[in-house]
Parts: sequence; C-alpha cells; structure tokens
Amino acid sequence: MTRTYVVTGSASGIGATTAKILRERGDTVIGIDLRGAEVEADLSGPQGRKDAAAKALELAGGTIDAVIACAGIAAPIPATIAINYFGVTELLDELLPGLVKSDAPRVAVVSSMASLQPNSADMVEAALAGDEEKAKQIAADLAEQGPELGYLVYPSSKRALARWVRRASITPEWAGNGIPVNGVAPGTVLTPMTEGLLSTPEGAKMVDAAVPMPLNYHQPPESIAHLLIWLTSVENTHMAGQIIYDDGGADATLRGDDIWSWNDAS
Ligand code: NAI
Repeated sequence: MTRTYVVTGSASGIGATTAKILRERGDTVIGIDLRGAEVEADLSGPQGRKDAAAKALELAGGTIDAVIACAGIAAPIPATIAINYFGVTELLDELLPGLVKSDAPRVAVVSSMASLQPNSADMVEAALAGDEEKAKQIAADLAEQGPELGYLVYPSSKRALARWVRRASITPEWAGNGIPVNGVAPGTVLTPMTEGLLSTPEGAKMVDAAVPMPLNYHQPPESIAHLLIWLTSVENTHMAGQIIYDDGGADATLRGDDIWSWNDAS
C-alpha cells in the first residue's frame, strides 16, 4: 500500500534523503521547503505555514497519511525558534484535518541531541505557551549578549519541540485521533548544516566534545531517514511521545545508565 507523505525540509540533508527513499519505494511525497520542493514556502511565519499547509492539502487531495518535519536551522537568531518550533507545531495543527482522513496517520519530527544541552527555560516556556513573539524576543535578547548566550537559542528550540511531542502525543487531537506523534534526536549528521563546522579540526573537536559518538561516529542522513520512515509507517501503532536518541551513543554517554530513578522511592 503506497502512502502520501508531507516532508518538510525536503530540499536538503535529512529531509531530502527521507523524501528520496520514500519515492524510491513508490510512496507519494509532497515536499515543503524554501526552494526546490512541491510546495515552496517559508515556515518562519504564520502566513507561510498556513499557505504551505493549504497547498500541501490541495496537492494531497485532502488526505495525508504522514508528516515528517525536518526543516530547521541552527543559527543563534530568533528565526531559529520560529522555524524549529512553530514551523513544526503550527504546520502540524494546519495539516491535522488531512491526517484524520487517513486510515493510518502518523507524525514524526526531528529534534536533536541539542535538546539535552543548556537552554533558556523562559524561551522553552514561551514556545510551549504558544507565544511566538515572546519566544523570538527572548532569542533576540540572548543573541544580542554575544555568542555564548546566543548559542542557547538552538537547544531551546529543540527542547521545546521535544516537550511538545510528549505533551501533544497524548491529547485528544493526536492520540484521540489514532495518530502516533514521536521525534528523533540525531547526533552529528553529515549534511550541509554541519559541513562548515566539521570542515576544520577545531570545529570538529568542538562538536565532538559536545556530542560524543562512540558508535560509528558521525552519521549519514540515511541513519535518521530510515527511523523517521519506520516511525511514520503503518507498523508503528503504539509508540507515543518518544524522542528516540539516534546518535551514536551520545545520549547514553552524557546522561549515563540511569535515566529511570527519578520516580524511585527514596
Ligand atoms: P539542512 O540544512 O541540510 O536542511 C534543512 C532544510 O530546511 C533546508 O532544505 C532548508 O532550506 C529548510 N528550511 C530552513 N528554513 C526553512 C524555512 N524557513 N521554511 C522552509 N524550509 C526551511 O539540515 P539537516 O542537517 O538536514 O537538518 C534537518 C533537521 O535535523 C533540522 O531540524 C536540524 O535542526 C536537525 N538536526 C540536524 C543535525 C545535524 O547534525 N545535521 C543534528 C540534529 C538535528
């Protein structure tokens, strides 16, 4: 049975690889990206998201089987919270009417290992509260104070997205409509996003210190694409609200073996 997928960020990196694998299997892919996609749209603002969803729904004939949200940027600027958080959550809300018409609707988003890094609690809360202007203002204020604080913007966007996945996955809109919502948190993936940073020994050393990957080191986009495809497959019937750290062992290295004792009797 072939399915209709909406893939954001389909023109590059993880999104492009995911779209290619799906198309090779015979599935229909409606890509959304700034350029080089079926739907050319800017997900950094509310109107762009609305237009993108309307066009995608039209191209899909009203029924969407799965959404895979990959579009994102890593710069220390306000647009990062707008694209990485609201460009996923608002777009998904707009696409929900198409998903509920599918026999096996599924959603997977791309968070990051960065969701475990230092971040701005205020920005995360503003995003989760749906206050885009406030979240962007916090990002702008942080960026203005120099690179160290500006760097908090990207992890904040990915922490907020990871928390949204857990919250949304069990609500009437998503779980109630039979839609598994999950996320993938990659380690360091070899795509245009990381090319510049990894091109110098100093850059690579900095990245590897923050994201240690004892299993197979830096990963190809295929390693994430195949997981996104399984998460959005008919076979995934009961996974809800999970962020899968598909990261060469970075999460296990940094958080250690005990992520369970938080609820143990003392
Ligand atoms: P990439 O830069 O190769 O692809 C990102 C795509 O998103 C591009 O095609 C770009 O045009 C699109 N995009 C950016 N802003 C947009 C906007 N305003 N509207 C519509 N489309 C827009 O990057 P990559 O590596 O494939 O990243 C995909 C996702 O994976 C991102 O969310 C990124 O944060 C995440 N990620 C990447 C990691 C890496 O090491 N490459 C690690 C962890 C997470």
